[in-house]
Amino acid sequence: MYSATAPAKVILFGEHAVVYGRPALAAPVAHLRARAIIEETGEADVKLIAPDLNRSADLSSANINNPLVATIRAVERSVGCALSEGYSLSVTSDIPIASGLGSGAAISVAIIRAFAQYLGRVDTMTNEVISQLAYEVEKLHHGTPSGIDNTVIAYERPVYFVRRQPANVIEPFTIARPLRLAIGDTGVRSATKDVVGDVRRRWEAAPDRFEAIFDACGRIASEGRAALAAGDMTAIGELMNENQSWLERMTVSSPPLERLIHAAREAGALGAKLSGAGRGGNMIALVTPELEEAVVAALMAAGAVRVFISDVG
Ligand code: PMV
Repeated sequence: MYSATAPAKVILFGEHAVVYGRPALAAPVAHLRARAIIEETGEADVKLIAPDLNRSADLSSANINNPLVATIRAVERSVGCALSEGYSLSVTSDIPIASGLGSGAAISVAIIRAFAQYLGRVDTMTNEVISQLAYEVEKLHHGTPSGIDNTVIAYERPVYFVRRQPANVIEPFTIARPLRLAIGDTGVRSATKDVVGDVRRRWEAAPDRFEAIFDACGRIASEGRAALAAGDMTAIGELMNENQSWLERMTVSSPPLERLIHAAREAGALGAKLSGAGRGGNMIALVTPELEEAVVAALMAAGAVRVFISDVG
């Protein structure tokens, strides 16, 4: 049996603007994970199993858009051999889907890591290779992903990320004092591809306005990196609030997100913003152990379907 896991992620600063070459900061959420298990079966086909969804399928007849199939095909292209028989692939995940926590990339990374073991290639399938393969799969679902999700999830470290040609800037960054985040789920599913596509249309219609918004988000990400390195919680919280106001101008916030964000701030959170693509999904609030209980209660009262507490850094 070959088994591997990968974490969820949050974007601390710079979502969307990162698609347009501005810096962004993301961090793994270690206790929310996707898991993949490969077992040898000796059978002629491959059994794909998603126990959470109570579903299974045979690889030979599964839809090519199935993310498990897409990931297997990406691994096949990378290693140059067919992976079409003799094993089962089972995937489970704690990460809510379509909610800004990187569920898709985490599933891909967990599967690729399980294949690295199955194929005896743990040494050559480095984090960089795994991230690149997960990016190939992300492109199928996302359209124009920046690459930040697969990067932070494959490296499982906080990363400062800038999308660049020919190579992205990927720098692990220092978090001087761990951040305690309350992650509140609106329960509204939102497809990243749709939101990213809509922002693109708006940028095309009003390029100057959107470039200025992206510049502001990029500046906030750079200042956020310095505040995180200095452990300046007040500055980090204020920058989160400022980033949220630019995300609102970008039109990617939503009434349910703002209800949670305002409730967290009123309960004393040092800062709060949406995280990920927006228009639904999750928000994050910076809390302290003393504030945590009040913020969680305020988020639940404001309509959160669940709240995770996570230490980041
Ligand atoms: O919604 P998520 O978790 O897939 O985050 C997407 C982050 C964006 O910046 C909106 C898109 C991207 O590819 O970077």
